[in-house]
Amino acid sequence: MKTLEFTGGALVILDQTRLPDKEVYLPLTTPDRVREAICALRVRGAPAIGVAAAYGLYLGARALDRLTPETARGVAERLASARPTAVNLTWALERMMRALEAHPGAPREALERRLLEEARAIEAEDKAACRAIGEHGLSLLRPDMGVLTHCNAGKLATAGIGTALAPLYLAHEKGYNLRVYADETRPLLQGARLTVYELARAGLDVTLICDGMAAAMMKAGRIGAVFTGADRIARNGDAANKTGTLGLAVLARHFGVPFYICAPTSTLDAACPDGGAIVIEERGAEEVAPRGYGETPVRVRNPAFDVTDAALIDAIVTERGILRPPYRL
Ligand code: MRU
Repeated sequence: MKTLEFTGGALVILDQTRLPDKEVYLPLTTPDRVREAICALRVRGAPAIGVAAAYGLYLGARALDRLTPETARGVAERLASARPTAVNLTWALERMMRALEAHPGAPREALERRLLEEARAIEAEDKAACRAIGEHGLSLLRPDMGVLTHCNAGKLATAGIGTALAPLYLAHEKGYNLRVYADETRPLLQGARLTVYELARAGLDVTLICDGMAAAMMKAGRIGAVFTGADRIARNGDAANKTGTLGLAVLARHFGVPFYICAPTSTLDAACPDGGAIVIEERGAEEVAPRGYGETPVRVRNPAFDVTDAALIDAIVTERGILRPPYRL
């Protein structure tokens, strides 16, 4: 199982909309196909989206009649419009654009080589960041602990071993015997379809629960810590993540369970003062509404993310170490 791989001619992704039933790999050869895969959540999770977009920009740049910062910017802007909340998307594309702009007048071949190097560096750095997050996060775990996670912040969301799931993988290697609980994560079931799939395949002890069960699991003393990822973290520590994360953080505080966010520094948005400035993606009603209303109009809201207040986050684990409140990122 490989989340994504650049083969030279194509970005090959594991189509996450088909999991857990089938492992289908899709070769993406144009930025439009990469954009579609990001919009449709075939490739998803903030760091993986950034890596995919970087290769998408390289593929687009290669196909341009004239490769200049201006023509490449058009490709980058189209890719950036795929999803608004995960800052890793624009972070990776801006990094690619800076690599291009740093060599004005260079021959085309050199510019293309430079873009490919940068995309490969973004992927390699993400892989290294995941491992480092895992090593720092391990210090927050104890043998035999019950850990609750939401959505999917694992191998399927990154180029490496994940963010929130990275400490769990390392703990498993050390024989910690954790009991992991995965929220199903309505409406698209990233927890049920993806987190349970990847953790079970790796041999971890994982139990699927409905989102609404988290409170009772905490009350029963089964949860020693909550670990989630993030899509964008504001300067004050407010963190956007999959809808339902805020509720978990409130519950965790009520029941005295530590709540941790794990994310690479590419998820920190220095331009964003607090959570109120984070744009939340609204997705289609069909993802939420059950069928069967016939002609009856039903109003649906489907914000894909919510923002957890910094005050509810006991620590933010990055590849550089563990940050504690008050956050000044
Ligand atoms: O809509 P998704 O599936 O892309 O949402 C993903 C999440 O909310 C993850 O928790 C987040 O991107 C962190 S991934 C390491």
